[in-house]
Amino acid sequence: MHTNQVYRERVTVNNGSHKWWHHRWFKIIGIFVIILIVFAVILALLLNFVVLAPDKSETSTTPATSSSPPQTTTTTTTKKSEWSVTGNMNNVRRDHTASVLLNGKVLITGEEGISNIILNSAELYDPSTGTWTTTSNITNIRYDYTASVLLNGKVLVIGGEGINNNALNTAELYDPSTGTWTTTSNLTDAREWHTASVLSNGKVLVTGGIAGNSAELYDPSTGIWTTTGNMIQERAHHTASVLSNGKVLVTGGGLINYLNSAELYDPSTGTWATTGNMTNIRVYHTASVLLNGKVLVTGGDDINNIVLNSAELYDPSTGTWKTVGNMANARYTHTASVLLNGKVLVTGGYNGNYLDSSELYDPSTSTWTTTSNMTNTRSDHTASVLSNGLVLVTGGFDGSSVINSAELYQ
Ligand SMILES: *[C@@H]1O[C@H](CO)[C@@H](O)[C@H](O)[C@H]1NC(C)=O
Ligand SMILES: *[C@@H]1O[C@H](CO)[C@@H](O)[C@H](O)[C@H]1NC(C)=O
Ligand SMILES: *[C@@H]1O[C@H](CO)[C@@H](O)[C@H](O)[C@H]1NC(C)=O
Ligand SMILES: *[C@@H]1O[C@H](CO)[C@@H](O)[C@H](O)[C@H]1NC(C)=O
Repeated sequence: MHTNQVYRERVTVNNGSHKWWHHRWFKIIGIFVIILIVFAVILALLLNFVVLAPDKSETSTTPATSSSPPQTTTTTTTKKSEWSVTGNMNNVRRDHTASVLLNGKVLITGEEGISNIILNSAELYDPSTGTWTTTSNITNIRYDYTASVLLNGKVLVIGGEGINNNALNTAELYDPSTGTWTTTSNLTDAREWHTASVLSNGKVLVTGGIAGNSAELYDPSTGIWTTTGNMIQERAHHTASVLSNGKVLVTGGGLINYLNSAELYDPSTGTWATTGNMTNIRVYHTASVLLNGKVLVTGGDDINNIVLNSAELYDPSTGTWKTVGNMANARYTHTASVLLNGKVLVTGGYNGNYLDSSELYDPSTSTWTTTSNMTNTRSDHTASVLSNGLVLVTGGFDGSSVINSAELYQ
């Protein structure tokens, strides 16, 4: 066994020396393979750190960019429109009314359709489907009236101008549960270009218009109108805002003279008192009660028929006004809506040109930023904040036609 082993070793050695070339080739191939492996490793390292490096840094930059909030927000705002189209109304309409019902639907009524025809039709927008359905017609054909959602959910349509160009003393109620209209008692004074405000006690305060400085109250529980204190000044095309303290702030407007003045109605006494003057005379402007209780007034027309881009803020605690940043565009016959986040969205209107632009007021900075343009140019349109926070904008005049399109701001 022992010998055998030695012999074998010898044989092996002999074998080896005998297959010397084979052994050498094996070594050469081995070295070549090692060189190949080293080369492959170097190549792999080169690929990894040089060729693939930009890819790697891109991939690591991308998450860094998307996790950096300001950059992402800027990109989204500039690229994606805040506006999207929704279903068209059945009728083209301008100077119409839009009322957000307690069930979340929006009731649109009147006013002017194609060829200046005054509409008595009404339709409902369903935010869950984005579609419109017709509902019963208003009983009396009217324009330049108001529509107010009462605390009981019904909608009160007040006054306006009739087909014989007479101011109306009639009022009617829409009941969303039946989809029908019923007349309610007559106003004390016939009115158009007036304001109507639902007070915290549920009564409706109606002020001015063609009836001058008179004011009256509707009581939904009795369906009866009673006069209340006269305003200090005659006002039409003015604004009226219910403040968080229950008082009503009336601003600007005018029947013969256009006004910069403002006055406050106290529901507990039924009387009016002057408060600070606005900086500007304003007619066809907007007034919005902010979440902080202050009132933002925007745009409108002044005494020289100059359309205003200015805005001012009323502070109920001091009874004074202060100007805030100017809007990018002068506007009247525009809309202003307080969003759920407290910002104010201003849309469209007219300043010599019909506008498709919209802008946002931020109460925390008192400044305006331009948003993306609406899909349509609109003046004499409506804007309603839906319960889901979106803003429904409907109809209006686009500079050449009365339109039936509607769009949503998000
Ligand atoms: C509303 O009135 C118009 C005419 O002004 C009529 O064509 C239409 O059928 C009426 N709609 C309803 C729902 O009664
Ligand atoms: C309301 O006024 C109208 C005229 O605008 C009149 O025809 C109607 O009879 C009045 N209604 C009541 C109940 O007095
Ligand atoms: C408000 O302005 C009117 C003029 O438009 C002026 O007569 C009045 O005195 C002013 N009132 C206050 C409180 O400044
Ligand atoms: C909006 O449209 C107007 C023209 O109507 C254009 O001048 C303006 O640049 C647009 N603004 C934006 C933010 O797209």
